Parts: sequence; structure tokens; C-alpha cells
Amino acid sequence: MPAVHRRAPSRDAELGKRDDDFRPRTKSPSSGFMGLPWRMRKRRVVLVLLGLILVYLFVHNMPTDLGTLDDRMGKPLRPGHVVQGAQAVKEPAGAPPRSANDEVGPHYYNGPIKFYRLATTLRGVARTGGAKFDNRNVLFAASSLKSVADLVPMACSMGKADRNYVHIALLGRDPLPLDDILEINGIDKVSCPVYFHDARGDYSEFSSVTRAEVSVSGAMKHINDFIHPQAIIMDDSSLEDLFFIRAMRRKASEYRRALIEVPAGKYEEFLWMTRLDSGSLGNWFSPSIDILIHAPPESSGGLIRLLKSLERADYTGLRPPRLSIELPNDVEHFARGYIEGLQWPPDEKASPLRTNALSLGHRITTSRLNSEQASLRFVESFFPASTIDDHVLILSPQAEVNPLYLQYLYYLILEYRYSSIGSREVDDLLGLSLDVPSNFINGSSGFVPPTKVDMREEDDLKYDAMEDSAPVPFVYQTPSSTSSLIFGDKWTTFHNFLSRRLEMSEAGKAEKHTKQVAESEPAWMEYLLELMTARGWNMLHPASAMATVHNELARIPEEYIREAKSKDAKPADTETQATSDDEPFLTADSPPTIPSRLEHNEPNSLMSLTDSLPFDGTLPDLRNLPHVYRTGKLFPPDGNEEYQNTYVEWFRQHIGGCDLATAQRKRIVRWLSADDLFCVPGIPADFDEGKLDDDKEEETTEDVSAAVESADDATVDDAKSGDESVKSNRDISGAREVDESGDGEVEAQVGVQV
Ligand SMILES: *[C@@H]1O[C@H](CO)[C@@H](O)[C@H](O)[C@H]1NC(C)=O
Repeated sequence: MPAVHRRAPSRDAELGKRDDDFRPRTKSPSSGFMGLPWRMRKRRVVLVLLGLILVYLFVHNMPTDLGTLDDRMGKPLRPGHVVQGAQAVKEPAGAPPRSANDEVGPHYYNGPIKFYRLATTLRGVARTGGAKFDNRNVLFAASSLKSVADLVPMACSMGKADRNYVHIALLGRDPLPLDDILEINGIDKVSCPVYFHDARGDYSEFSSVTRAEVSVSGAMKHINDFIHPQAIIMDDSSLEDLFFIRAMRRKASEYRRALIEVPAGKYEEFLWMTRLDSGSLGNWFSPSIDILIHAPPESSGGLIRLLKSLERADYTGLRPPRLSIELPNDVEHFARGYIEGLQWPPDEKASPLRTNALSLGHRITTSRLNSEQASLRFVESFFPASTIDDHVLILSPQAEVNPLYLQYLYYLILEYRYSSIGSREVDDLLGLSLDVPSNFINGSSGFVPPTKVDMREEDDLKYDAMEDSAPVPFVYQTPSSTSSLIFGDKWTTFHNFLSRRLEMSEAGKAEKHTKQVAESEPAWMEYLLELMTARGWNMLHPASAMATVHNELARIPEEYIREAKSKDAKPADTETQATSDDEPFLTADSPPTIPSRLEHNEPNSLMSLTDSLPFDGTLPDLRNLPHVYRTGKLFPPDGNEEYQNTYVEWFRQHIGGCDLATAQRKRIVRWLSADDLFCVPGIPADFDEGKLDDDKEEETTEDVSAAVESADDATVDDAKSGDESVKSNRDISGAREVDESGDGEVEAQVGVQV
């Protein structure tokens, strides 16, 4: 009405000319209203009252979830931006009324729950793709303010790593406003790219325990609808509010999401977890590790040293591995006593009802096993329940593990096996070694691990701060028996390979070749090396060792012990001869010696993984790491397929029982199976489009076979030239020469030393 009045004169002035035409177009309500008859007045009063009631109801039930104009217009929110506005709408302040049957004490209120502050921020994060079931969202959830303070640095660190959309939800009872909480914790929203959600209900401060729990569940439902977090991270349950823990556990299992508890006081140590992507975090509980220790005769001293280091290691926050020990026939009584008192998994706080995850095997026979029997005995002692998730960690009694070995393994397994982005390099990974080798697999010394100059692509990470000579992780086409984790699917394939391989040996179809692996290593390594080479699998080694492998107390594996027990000075004849005959490989005439290894010092156990790993604790893409052949040379960057194909053809023909033509035909490689490497009578071969490979490759195969067959000449030359070739692997600057052709490698690896 006032608008009309104000406009009237100007309109008057404008129109000017016809004064008589201008009449007030509306009546002033004050004059008009009073002039109406009573009945009509009454009707209007009722209408106005009704209107007022409607307005009141509307305001009272104002939808709180519209968000600010910015949000509704779909403008992307800055990460870390807390949307203001909805709070202003109408959240009741003060204490809610008590009713007769409320509990006594400060936490009495049981009324319905409204979330006044949650909707805006949830609507604001639409761009994180949370509506989809699979996305990149990770949620940190906290109830107590102490836990908020514990988690926020981790969340900020994860936000900065920029692999996930990171959210923090406050779900507790504390009434302190979000902004104040952030200020107290010194969070600068610009440098902490994280979305904050205030998911506390109204009157949270006064909530009864039941209402508080329902409030957490209710908020989690909304959060899940909008964000679908792939993983939920919370503080140690010994520090959090009980109602919160109960609700979170129920909701996480309902939504089938990993609920990760960061162990109390380990926030720095677990910073590596903030480098993982949502795929890895969502699979936090998937991997499981079995430790397998085969104790050869007279190895009790080393075994106890190893067990002590395992007991000392840190298992908090991670699923402890199962432990199986295969004992020899003669267990020294001190070792027996030690194992008797062994609590596994080590945890002082564990319930007396926890399962004992230690299993022991004991050898009955006192006779010595030959290498085939020994391999079988070892490989058969583990088989994964889940080929994807169950992995075996093989430890030799010579090893001693770093206290952070389990965190290291979990970090790498989660990153490389469960990340949302897979790669061929990852598929070709046989496992993870804790050790950095100092010898070649044939026992010769002189293996020098690659350094930063050997990295393939340097621009991908910020390597600049690193010295050229700084050690880096590398992939190596060689198995290792001292401390290696082997992935479940690879181990399963190895089982299949070994059964075919031994079948061929028994049928007399597999030719005997010179052993490539030193006889100081267990016999199964030879078979695994064959499979690795045929498949192009690699082992990932760390930049600096996570296990110490000791030289003292080292033993030759029993399968290669010669002239056993015959102290009369007649070593060579009978025993050695007998051994060689039932050996599947040609072994050296002289008894093996134990090559001495470089003993890596115990790394500083006080350092967290993120501080001790190179690249600031970020795990590099496997593609960029140096790829090293068994000979110590680097793979060409475009892969070693040709070399691998050549080896496969050679293998099929000389060990797999195939004739030359069949050996050269491409076969379909099936997961968990090695059948494509053999021609087993009765098992039809799956040829890949059944075409013969071209002439060029045929020639290569001939070369290799020729090289393999010209056994005797090679041995002499090669033994001499061994050290030289190690040196010539480098040029002066320290960078290695890359074998571009691949053919040379085949000769070096297959042909030589037969
Ligand atoms: C052992 O292997 C390395 C690398 O392939 C080679 O250089 C060396 O000559 C070999 N030593 C013996 C004794 O065969």
C-alpha cells in the first residue's frame, strides 16, 4: 500500500493534464475496512488470522535444506568452505523442556531430532559425485572434541594429497559452534581442503544416550545418501563416545563400508594412510597375510631371533598376520621352550578368548629330502583361501624384520593392489620384498641396486630434491627367499605351474638344465624363477631394507648339503653322485658355499613410514621405477615382451614337453593357470587364434636353443667374464645401460652357464 501512495503523486505529475480523471484507485484499508458491514469485517478478520497462522506455520517449518543462493545456483564450493546461512534460520537455543519421565542429570532430552546444520553442507558437495555409489569420497567422523583434534590433521593431509574428496563430520553432543572448533584446532580453511559437516542434531547437548545414538545413526543416513563415503575413518574406540561407536559400527556394517579406527596416539605413524585413495581405503580390511617360516635343521638360533623381531613389531590398527612355523625333526630344547611361551598375535590387551593364530608343523622323517621333495613340502604348506586377498610372507630364519614391516606391507598392498587405478605393472607384480639384495641370484656378489638416475620418468614426481645416487624402490625379475610377500593369485598359479612342471620331470620330458639359482637358496626358488621369467613377473624391492638378513647362522638348505655326515675324507664319490642323479637340475660339482650378504642396518624404528620412505612417503607409480633383469641390467622402457615370448617358446620346447611347432604357437594365458606353458597329453591346448609366429621370432628361438645347447663352451667363458659384465652395466655417470634388444638378455639368462 505505501508504494501506491508514494507513486500516486509522480503519476499525477506525469499525467498532469487530466486532474479530473485521477481518482485514488485503491481505497486506504483503514478507511475502507471500517466502512464495511460487520459480517464482512468478521470474515476478513478470520481470513487475516488464517493467513497469519499459515505464515507462522511456514516460518516455523521453514525448509532448512535449501542452502544458500550460491549452493542453489550450483556454484562449486571452495573445499573447506563452510556454508553459512542455514544456521540463521531457526535453531532453538537453550534447554528443551523436561517432561515427567525424562531421565535425571544433564542428558535428559528424548524429543525428536532435527538437523539444522547438516543439509546445507551436504547439498553443497554435489560436485564430489556422492550421489553415485562408487566415488572418491572419504569420511572422517568424530564425536568427542578430542577426537576431532586428533583426526583433523590427518584429514587435512589427505585433502592435500588430492586423491580423494575428504569430508569431516561432527556427530557428538558438544554444543561448541563449528567455526570455533576449527579455530581452536588452528585450521585454516584455505590450506586444509576438506569439507566440514556439522551433523549434530538440535539440543544435542541435552540428548539422552539413546537420543544421541539415534542422532548419529540419523545423521549417518543423510551423509550416506549424499556422500556414499567409500571408507569411514574414526578415532580409536577407546577414546570416542560409546553411543557414537555403537551407531557408527551399526551403520558402517549396514552400508558395507570399511570403518577404520586410527589407533590412539599413532596419528603421525599412520599418516601414510592419508596418501591412499578411496579404493584402497575402502578395502582396508580386505588383505590378510600369512607368515610362513620353514626352519631348516639346526636353525633354532636364527628362528628365535626372527620370532623376537616379529614380536617386537607394531601391529596396532592392522589385522595381525597368522604365523606358521615348520619345525625340523630335531628342535633344540631352548627353541621348543621359546615357542611354548609364544603368544601370537602379540598384544597385551587382547582378550583371553582371542584365537591363537600360531600354527606349528613338525617334520617326522629324519632322512634328507631331495630338492623336488623339499620344494613340494615348502610350496604345499600354504594355499590362499582367497586368491585376491590372502598373501603369504615368506621369512627365512636368517632374517629379522623392521618394527614397521606390517605397516609397510599394508601400505604397499593397499596402494598397488586395491587402488581404483590398476596397471599392467601391478598385474605383473609377484610380490613385495622387504629386503634389498646384494648378490645375484646365482650367488655372485656385485649386485648394485639402482638409484634415482635409473628412474624412468622423472617429471612425474618431485624428485628434484633427491640426489642422483639416492636409493629408490625397484622391480627385479628375480624371486627372493629371505623376506618376501607373494600375492595369493601368483602363489596359486605357482601351485599349478609346479604340478605340471613335476609331471613333466617325472615323465622324463623336461630336459635337465643347469641350476640358475645358487644352491645356498632353497630349491623352490628355481621353479619360481622359471615361472617369473615366463610370465614377466617382478618383485618390488624397497629403497632401503625393511628387514635385516644376517650372515651368521646361515645354513645351506638341506636339499643341497653334500657329503653329509661322512667325515672320512672321501667326500666326492657316492653321495654326490647319488644326489645329482635324482636332481631335476644339473648342479655344480663342488659343494655350495654361502655367499655373504650386505647386512642392512636396522632402520630407525622411531621414524614413521612417511618420513623414512623416499618421495616424502608417497608411493611412486610402478611404471616410473627402474625395472631390473636378473642380470642387473635395466629393461627397455617399452617392456620386455619379446624377451618374454622367446623364453616362453624355449621353455615349452625344452621343459614343457612341446614340439617346436607347438611351442611357437601363441596360447591363451588363463588366470591362476600355467597350462599354456606345457603340452600335457590329455589336456587340450588353447591356441590364441592358432597362427604361427613369423619367421623372425623362429630364428630367435633357434638362437636361444643353440645357446642353451652349446653348454660346455659357455661355462668356462662366463665364469671368467662375470665380474666384468657387472661393471659394464654402468657408464661413468652411474646410470645403467638399458638392454634395448632383449635378445642379449635371453642368451645371458637362458643360454649361458648351462
Ligand atoms: C651370476 O649372474 C650374474 C648376473 O647374471 C652374472 O654376471 C655372473 O657372471 C653370474 N655368475 C656366475 C658364477 O655364473
